[in-house]
Amino acid sequence: MQIIKTLSELSELCRSFHQAQQSICLVPTMGYYHAGHEDLMQYGRTLADKLVVSLFVNPTQFGPAEDLENYPKDHERDSRIAESHGCDVLFLPDAADMYTADHATWVEVPKMTKILCGLSRPIHFRGVCTVVLKLFNLTQADYAVFGEKDWQQQAILKKMVEDLNVPVTIKTRATVREADGLALSSRNVYLTAEERKQAPAIYAGLCAARTLVKKGERNAKKIKDLVLQKWAVDIPLGRLDYLNIVDPYNLENVEYLEQDALMACAVRLGKARLIDNILLPACGTQA
Ligand code: PAF
Repeated sequence: MQIIKTLSELSELCRSFHQAQQSICLVPTMGYYHAGHEDLMQYGRTLADKLVVSLFVNPTQFGPAEDLENYPKDHERDSRIAESHGCDVLFLPDAADMYTADHATWVEVPKMTKILCGLSRPIHFRGVCTVVLKLFNLTQADYAVFGEKDWQQQAILKKMVEDLNVPVTIKTRATVREADGLALSSRNVYLTAEERKQAPAIYAGLCAARTLVKKGERNAKKIKDLVLQKWAVDIPLGRLDYLNIVDPYNLENVEYLEQDALMACAVRLGKARLIDNILLPACGTQA
């Protein structure tokens, strides 16, 4: 595995892969790997000849009061994990190289970024889109892999790729969970023991919504109310950021489920802000 720090080396190397008729899969990450990242890498490895993993805690996607400074880091362990999954290139750029002092261009998808997580993180997706487009341009990746835990992120990136004709195919992977249902996240380390005990109830609430839909309920408010009632009992330490039922592709709110829909949420538990989602099979097509 080559560890590369400069942008020019990355683009030169990726150009040489393409010249040798080798396809490239990019897995963009912010590090502190868990089994969810490992799944993205393992899958990415099967998609292309060369697997490029970027590890960059992107400052422009963090708001002023967010956890940029404290974001967990362990580059040595991360390098070993990436290598063990057949990563060919680990890209570890410096923030000052990714964003020069006169950086002035931003990628925005306003309709999809000002809702759900975008309500409490107004600049987040602008930073994500900008850094991911830079990574796409540097690598000219044929494929890129993202996790479905960040459902809004992957939906926005797919729209960006479609609208800007970026020649990359985005693939997604199902959320990897702890045995008790909690979605894996690098930020789970922020949870205290008591918060950790309550956290699995987030996904349990979403599963209860899915069961209700399977039984025939189609009214979004009734489905959300059930989840909120359960959470009020099971997550007394939690503070709701949002719980919405939306179209899985354009993320617009759904009042009555005529098609399969997505229930997405963010719940604050102590220092952690946990996001999760579940598909609601209103057409009976989801397992
Ligand atoms: O999902 C993440 O870890 C980040 O948002 C990403 C896609 C690596 C961009 O910084």
